[in-house]
Amino acid sequence: MEPAKIKAVMPVAGLGTRFLPATKATPKEMLPVVDKPAIQYVVEEAVAAGIRDVLMIIGRNKNAIANHFDAMPELEGKLTEKGDDRKLGHVQHSSSLADIHMLRQGEPKGLGHAVFRAKSHVGDSPFAVMLGDDLIDERDPLLPKMIEVNEQKKAMVIALMEVDPEQISMYGCASVEATDDPDVVKILDLVEKPAKEEAPSNLAIIGRYLLTPEIFDVLEHTQPGKGNEIQLTDALKEVATDDDNVDVYGVIFRGRRYDTGDKLDYIKAILQLASDREDLGPDLRPWIKDFAATL
Ligand code: UTP
Repeated sequence: MEPAKIKAVMPVAGLGTRFLPATKATPKEMLPVVDKPAIQYVVEEAVAAGIRDVLMIIGRNKNAIANHFDAMPELEGKLTEKGDDRKLGHVQHSSSLADIHMLRQGEPKGLGHAVFRAKSHVGDSPFAVMLGDDLIDERDPLLPKMIEVNEQKKAMVIALMEVDPEQISMYGCASVEATDDPDVVKILDLVEKPAKEEAPSNLAIIGRYLLTPEIFDVLEHTQPGKGNEIQLTDALKEVATDDDNVDVYGVIFRGRRYDTGDKLDYIKAILQLASDREDLGPDLRPWIKDFAATL
């Protein structure tokens, strides 16, 4: 399927409790990473992969997200009057990126529930689920490979990353079988946030999924799991372990990824991305070195 026909679903209705109090009135996906909200990077990633249609599943505090991707006539007028084309470009860029649709989740009953809400919007085609607090560096594209595997295998595809075994209990974890491609594995089973001793591997699920509509038939009856939330991992586990359903494959991501939903990783993401930037890096890098020397 051509990427332009694939829709992206971005669930942004979580409560963001790990990042309180910043996320009390602001969705965590709107926290700035250098000078753009995290969610804008994710929309740009979808657009770079050829996707033009984005559905955001929104919760409380939705206005900030809707406004960010909408036109701002007053601000644009002022910048036009001032002749500040650079800033005007920045303001207009986010509202012209893609067709952005918004749908309310209702209650935050979990990621699986948020994805289920996208059913009528995505229809009968494969679609991407992209988490707004999980940033994939634009220099290490992941989605095109996932789209390719979905087409080849006619299967659902999840993104995996090798993590330190000590950290696997923070993620969904996959039990896998190798394929001819060292970056692609067949998923045999999945377990949400296992204790280190019970984890079948150190392959963690990260926030990119290429799903087929069969997922909705499963999510319809998926019961609340870990954290009393309807877990997407539980639904995918059912798909992977049910012989009658489509297969699930994993693409192992070996590039740069930033988890902006976690305070420490968020700080690291800003430093890494800013130090690589032409406008900020030359001043920031020596400062980081000097600062590190004082520690
Ligand atoms: P997380 O578990 O990372 O998000 O959900 P959270 O619940 O907001 O975060 P913490 O743990 O309390 O800090 C993964 C993704 O699913 C979305 C979140 O916005 C995030 O992008 N989500 C989660 C929903 O859209 N709805 C939900 O009910 C739960």
